[in-house]
Amino acid sequence: MEAMTRRIGITNQKGGVSKTTNTINVAGALAADGVDVLAVDMDPQGYLTHRLGFEDEYTSDPPSLYDALQSPADHDVDDLVVAHEEFDLLPANIDMFHLEQDLIASGMRPRLRLKTVLENATAWDVVLIDAPPSLGPLNDNVVLATEELLVPVEADESSQLALNHLLRQLDTLEDNYDTHVDVLGLIVSNVAYPLDNEQQAAIDWFNERFEGRVAVWTVRSRAAIKRAVKDQGSVFAEDAEEVDMTDVYAQIAAEVADE
Ligand SMILES: Nc1ncnc2c1ncn2[C@@H]1O[C@H](COP(=O)(O)OP(=O)(O)OP(=O)(O)O)[C@@H](O)[C@H]1O
Ligand SMILES: [Mg+2]
Repeated sequence: MEAMTRRIGITNQKGGVSKTTNTINVAGALAADGVDVLAVDMDPQGYLTHRLGFEDEYTSDPPSLYDALQSPADHDVDDLVVAHEEFDLLPANIDMFHLEQDLIASGMRPRLRLKTVLENATAWDVVLIDAPPSLGPLNDNVVLATEELLVPVEADESSQLALNHLLRQLDTLEDNYDTHVDVLGLIVSNVAYPLDNEQQAAIDWFNERFEGRVAVWTVRSRAAIKRAVKDQGSVFAEDAEEVDMTDVYAQIAAEVADE
């Protein structure tokens, strides 16, 4: 039997906590291991699409992910995907700025559209979805389409508050949709060393929040990570410079690839 496609959301409604950077590097780590990966850009601002060099797709004429989400039965994901050097990408489109309103206005299960769209996307081993920085219908679509999440956070108090908000929203979705959502791990990202007291307290708090049941990885702040993304790829790309954070991304990839 063919293995199931595993779908994982990379989400936190807090802005700028490395969702997109982690999406690229976890996808890169998986791809470097021979895993077939589709990255999906669910942020209407399309940073993932831009960072990977597909700005033309972002402004291209329909159909795009917007249209697929509006009428899943009329579109095939395979027709909307573009090939990046390391993995595949389902790009965001500028039309997605009015997606949230349009989904709600149409009334038909607006939070389950992405799940429906991706149900036929079975050609990949792993589908990784970069969520937008908001709690709302688009993020709910990511959660319900995946039911497995990686949550990037920063080592500060506001990220603790943000995580509590997110967990509350997950509880609500679990109740309303009679489902279970797993947090696979937290990725404490862009961490500058040496840690000050606030950073250490935040990391301790993240570890205690799930009583050790959820992995907490740390990705340090590295110019080489920024440069790899600027060069439209991950730290695992063929032309990327060496950086000491590949191990942690490989660990995350191992967790993601292993059911
Ligand atoms: N480990 C890292 N080392 C250096 N810079 C990083 C690292 N992680 C993220 N950054 C930088 O932090 C900024 C925010 O990262 P990113 O865009 O990935 O966050 P995001 O959560 O996707 O943001 P948004 O909420 O806008 O979608 C970017 O400038 C990125 O280059
Ligand atoms: Mg982003």
